Amino acid sequence: MTTEPQTPSIRLVAISGSIRRASHCTAVLRSLPPLLPPGVALEIFPLDEVPLYNADLDGDMPPAAVAQLKSAIASADGLVLCSPEYNYGIPGVLKNAIDWASRPGFASPLKGKPVLIMTASPGTAGGVRAQAQIRDALAATLARPLVRQHIAIAGIAARIQEGRLVDESTLGFIATGLLELVDEIRWLAMRSGEAS
Ligand code: FNR
Repeated sequence: MTTEPQTPSIRLVAISGSIRRASHCTAVLRSLPPLLPPGVALEIFPLDEVPLYNADLDGDMPPAAVAQLKSAIASADGLVLCSPEYNYGIPGVLKNAIDWASRPGFASPLKGKPVLIMTASPGTAGGVRAQAQIRDALAATLARPLVRQHIAIAGIAARIQEGRLVDESTLGFIATGLLELVDEIRWLAMRSGEAS
């Protein structure tokens, strides 16, 4: 007997704050599918083609990569971010994407979107300073960054092998974060169903 594959009922979009080919953060995101609960799918949206924010280009016909980014976020039930820290803060690549996605202000695809934030660093602090800034920037967009223990992965280089996160305790900690994200998405869906 064959079983039909389950159509995912929850779709997550994952965004890396690094566009480096061998990025540790992108490797972390690539390692997530086996950790997802049943019925949840995850797709990585690469930021390589997203241009620098320019309000002159920010209208009904934005650059193609921006339109794709906004549409991916709009159709996702939740977001998963993994970012490095640059000079104690949020990398420009990620901040730029949040800026594009945040328009129109307070009514953008980010509004009300649950977000699991992760940071990773070869250093000892795991990018916590960047994480605080990412949370702040998302709060400005009215997104819903998950309130939970930080996922700040220190010593990331030693936890990656062949482009995948292989450290069991980190994978376990992230799996719990993903479950909490899915719970939040389901709770929001139930609440909006109650309201309608
Ligand atoms: C860094 N790096 C870094 N790391 C950190 O923990 N705190 C920091 O403030 C900085 N600052 C910083 C600035 C710049 C310009 C670069 C290029 C790098 C190191 C950084 O965490 C490391 O390069 C990561 O591996 C980058 O993430 P990806 O590309 O591997 O995902």
